[in-house]
Amino acid sequence: MNTADIKVKLISQKSSKSLLKGIKKTKTDVEILFCFRNQKTKDKSYETFNLPSKKDFVIIKPKASQDTLERIQEAINEESFLAEDQKTLTLRHCGTDTKHTIVIGLGDLKDQKQDGLCLETFRRCGAIAFQSLSHIKAKEAKLSLHHFDLVSDRTEKMLHAFLLGLKLASYQFEDHISKKSKVSFNSLLLALPQLSKETKSKEMVLTNTIDQASHICEGITFARWLADHPGNVIHPVNLAKEVQKKFKSTSVKVTVWDKKRIEKERMGLLYGVGQGSSVDPRLIIMEYKGRGLKRNTAPVCFVGKGITFDSGGISIKPSRSMEEMKYDMCGAADVIGTMVALEKLQAKVHAIGIVASAENMPGGAATKPGDIHYARNGTSVEVFNTDAEGRLVLGDALCLAVEKKPQFIVDAATLTGAIVIALGNDHTGYFVRGEILADAIEKALEATGENAWRMPLTEGHRKSMKGIHADLKNIGDGDHPGAGSAKGAAFLSYFVSEDIPWAHFDIAGTAYNVGHLYPYCPRKGASGLMVRTFCQLALNSFE
Ligand code: BES
Ligand code: ZN
Ligand code: ZN
Repeated sequence: MNTADIKVKLISQKSSKSLLKGIKKTKTDVEILFCFRNQKTKDKSYETFNLPSKKDFVIIKPKASQDTLERIQEAINEESFLAEDQKTLTLRHCGTDTKHTIVIGLGDLKDQKQDGLCLETFRRCGAIAFQSLSHIKAKEAKLSLHHFDLVSDRTEKMLHAFLLGLKLASYQFEDHISKKSKVSFNSLLLALPQLSKETKSKEMVLTNTIDQASHICEGITFARWLADHPGNVIHPVNLAKEVQKKFKSTSVKVTVWDKKRIEKERMGLLYGVGQGSSVDPRLIIMEYKGRGLKRNTAPVCFVGKGITFDSGGISIKPSRSMEEMKYDMCGAADVIGTMVALEKLQAKVHAIGIVASAENMPGGAATKPGDIHYARNGTSVEVFNTDAEGRLVLGDALCLAVEKKPQFIVDAATLTGAIVIALGNDHTGYFVRGEILADAIEKALEATGENAWRMPLTEGHRKSMKGIHADLKNIGDGDHPGAGSAKGAAFLSYFVSEDIPWAHFDIAGTAYNVGHLYPYCPRKGASGLMVRTFCQLALNSFE
C-alpha cells in the first residue's frame, strides 16, 4: 500500500565468527549498529562495548571488527559523528562482508526517559535507519540480535518500536503523483544466535512481535491514507465506501446510514452540518467482536469527527491555510485505523467505532448562525458559529455510542484551534470523566510513548455552553472568553450520560504536519498519532 513492503525475517546464526559466513551467503547490503554515549547504564537488555579510546561511547555489540571500531573512532575523533540522537554514520567496506555499516546515534543516556534506552528512541532510530538505508539505495539490511537479552520481554518491546519506526517512516502519499518514487529497501534480516531450546521459543515470540508491529502499522497507514486524501476525493460518501471496502471479508460489520436515515434516526446536528454541502453526510458504524469473548461483553466505543472538509460554513474561515481543513476528518481516520489494527491483531475485544461524517460548506441550504437543531437525545442547540461544527456532529455520534451501553467511550477530533495554542504540536489534549478511565489512559500512554496532556473539564465550562433560546449553544460566551478547547469538551459532555466513563481527545495540534517532531511521521501529512494508544486502551480493557 502506501508503506514500503518491507519483509522482516528471522535468521539464525551460530556466533560472531560464523556470522560472517552467514552474511556472505545472504549477501546483505548493510549491517546496522547502534551507538550512544555514557557507559553507565543499568539496563541489562543488551550487551555493550565501549570504544577503547573513547570510553563514554558505547556500541550495542560486545565485539565488532577492529576495522569497524577504528573507523567509528576516527569519526568521533574528527567530531563528524558523535552518536547524537538521530545522527548516522555510514561506513563502506570496513572489514565485514557487508557493503555498508550504518551506525545509528541514539544520543546521550542521560537524555532518555528511563534508565537505559527508551522505546521512543528505538522508534525514532527505526525511522532514521529507513532514511539512511533509502539514501544509499540499500535493498537488504541485517540487524544482529545476538547482543540483546533474549530472555526478558524488553527485547520484544525494543524490536517492536524499531520495526514500527522503520515501517511508518516509509509511508508516502503518492496516489495523485504521476511519477511514484522507488523504494529500494525491502528486506530486514534479524539475526538470532543459533537455535537452542530457549531461542526456539523466543523465535516464536519474536515472529509474533514482527506481525504485531505490522498490524498496528497497517491501522496507522490506513488512517494516514484516508486523511491525506483531498476533500474532493474522500468526501463523506466515499469515506463510507472506503470503510466498507477495507472491512470486506473481515469479521468487522460495517453499517452506513445515509442522509435520509440520519434524519430518521433524529441526528439533527449531523444533518444540520451536512445540509450546506452538495455531498450528503454519512454515519458509519464498525463493530468488531474478537473470538472467545463472553456473550454479553460490553463494547468499548471509539467515536470520530469526520468533517472531510471544513470551510467554516456560513461563519466562513479565512482563506489562509484553509486547504489544511481536509484533515478535519483525522479523528474519524484514527478511529477507523484503530478498528483496522484491532481486527488485524485479532484482538480479544469487543469494539465499536462510530464516525460522523459531513462536509461543512456554506451552500444555499446551509445552517445559518442562530439556527436551532435537535440532537438525537432531544437536546436543542443554537448554532451561533457554524465553524464550531465538530462538536455538533460528535454530539449525535456520542448519543449513539451511549445507547451501546459501552464500558467506556473515547472520541477523537480535530476540534479546536485553541488546543494548538495551549499545547502546540507535540501533545494531544485530552479531557476525561471517570478516574478509572483516566488511569487506563495514563497507562496506555505510558505503554505507547505517545504524548497527551490531561486538560480540565469543569462545571464552569459546562455552564458557559447553556443556550439562550435553546438548551445549549455551540460556542462559549463572548463575555467570558478563552478556554476554547475546554468549552468544546464541555459541550460534548452533554451528550454522554454521567455513568459512562468518557474521554475526548482534541487532536487538532497532532493529527498532521508533525514530522518535525517525530521522524516516523510525515513532515507534511497525517500522522496517525493516537491510533496506538486507542488500540492499547481497547486491549487493556479486557485484561
Ligand atoms: N476544524 C476546526 C478546528 C481546527 C483548527 C482544527 C485548526 C485544526 C487546526 C474546528 O471546526 C473549528 O473551526 N473550531 C473553531 C471553534 C470556534 C468557532 C469556537 C476554532 O477553533 O476556531
Ligand atoms: Zn470548524
Ligand atoms: Zn472542524
